[in-house]
Amino acid sequence: MIEKLPKDYLNNMRALLGEEYEAFLQSYSQPALRGLRINTKRTSVERFLTLSKWKLSPTNTIDNGFIIEERVRKIGYHPYHIGGAFYMQEPSAMSVIAEVERLNILNRPLKVLDLCAAPGGKSTGVGEKLSSDSVIVANELVRSRANELISNIERLGITNSVVTNLYPKAVAEYFPSYFDLVLVDAPCSGEGMFRKNPEVIYEWSTERVRSSAEIQREILSHAKSCVKPGGYLIYSTCTFNTIENEGTIDCFLNINSDFELISQRRIFPHTHRGEGHFVCAMRKSEEAEYHPPRKPKAINQYRKVKDSAFYELMSEIFTDFDSEAYILGDNYYMASPGLIETASIVPNIYSGVLAGIQKKNRIEPTHTLFMAAHGYKYRNQLDFSPDSEELRSYLSGNTLAAADEGRYYLISCDGFPLGYAKQSDGLLKNKLPKGLRVYLREEKDEKNEKSETEE
Ligand SMILES: C[S@@+](CC[C@H](N)C(=O)[O-])C[C@H]1O[C@@H](n2cnc3c(N)ncnc32)[C@H](O)[C@@H]1O
Repeated sequence: MIEKLPKDYLNNMRALLGEEYEAFLQSYSQPALRGLRINTKRTSVERFLTLSKWKLSPTNTIDNGFIIEERVRKIGYHPYHIGGAFYMQEPSAMSVIAEVERLNILNRPLKVLDLCAAPGGKSTGVGEKLSSDSVIVANELVRSRANELISNIERLGITNSVVTNLYPKAVAEYFPSYFDLVLVDAPCSGEGMFRKNPEVIYEWSTERVRSSAEIQREILSHAKSCVKPGGYLIYSTCTFNTIENEGTIDCFLNINSDFELISQRRIFPHTHRGEGHFVCAMRKSEEAEYHPPRKPKAINQYRKVKDSAFYELMSEIFTDFDSEAYILGDNYYMASPGLIETASIVPNIYSGVLAGIQKKNRIEPTHTLFMAAHGYKYRNQLDFSPDSEELRSYLSGNTLAAADEGRYYLISCDGFPLGYAKQSDGLLKNKLPKGLRVYLREEKDEKNEKSETEE
């Protein structure tokens, strides 16, 4: 692999690492590490470790982060993955979540922005640790990647998120001085991806480093105005060069004296078990100029649900439903008042939990509801083990045999929700969205291992 690496890149690394350079080069003879993050919204670390048969070892960055110590084929198709019990995450990318933990602010309600969020590794990792009255706005510029972000947020059941698809400049205009914490996991030249995804090697050039740094500086120039006085800004990349890391931060701090550096950490594959990351935390001064949001204009007019049809549907599905519910157009949402306040002032493509959709004369529950109704007790549930034939059949889109009574059934695997089925005409009709019917796709996609690209 070393012979494929660009000369200019190797020269930069030699200059950066000095005596450590040889050890760094040696790391290219080892395979890339794969990691997973247990979703503590779904289960405890202990329970997952008991259930899963994989050889896992702690990353020692966050308590729920693990390195997969064996080759597990098609892990993205495993029912635990589909049920959002874990997220595939490169081990060093978890250091951003660890940095958030070190700020010691997770014990209070927070407004968080993840400005470059897809496919959702940091948004879901931080989102799962936030209190239920906190909100995370996950923004992604590229629409196709924003869709991937939404499916990960839905799969993991991160209920307090709002997803936007905006330029950073537009985000800053909607949310001046609004957030306690802003994450900028910036697009970069990806030097820390070479071992995991060798195609990135061919996209690298000195010019790419320079243009990435320009984009990073531009993104930070918008990110800074979203931070409240006294709030935090975390900048990260998965590249090694100083231009995009310390260089971008020095340039930012030189022109923004209202921010101070709290910490700056580097992860290299020869010093840590991970592919490589740079993470920097900064704090905006309490005395920084406060730009209160213009009297926020409600772009989206969410209204509290008053009609009984929605609550009747919820009590047909749950024995103890008591969430706040809102309606926007034909869509019914479960959400906290704080989330609705944020979602109403920005054009968004996903908010809270879309629980039901008005169809002509009835409300149809959604897949999202069954993936995200944490804590509520279902009236009807069919739970299977991971190797069950019936489960495999459900996941590939087939109907299930009729059950005793009741219309809506949660289908789960060892308690992890996969979707739902609706009983009518003597059958349990499969309501799994077509794009999630995995075993059918698995046959088509033999070579394309899902979820290997998650960050
Ligand atoms: C490193 S990735 C983010 C990974 C993500 N935080 C995670 O943990 O899964 C950077 C993201 O920035 C987006 N992006 C690219 N150019 C951008 C720009 N000019 N402004 C904002 N975001 C951009 C990319 O589409 C990409 O999804």
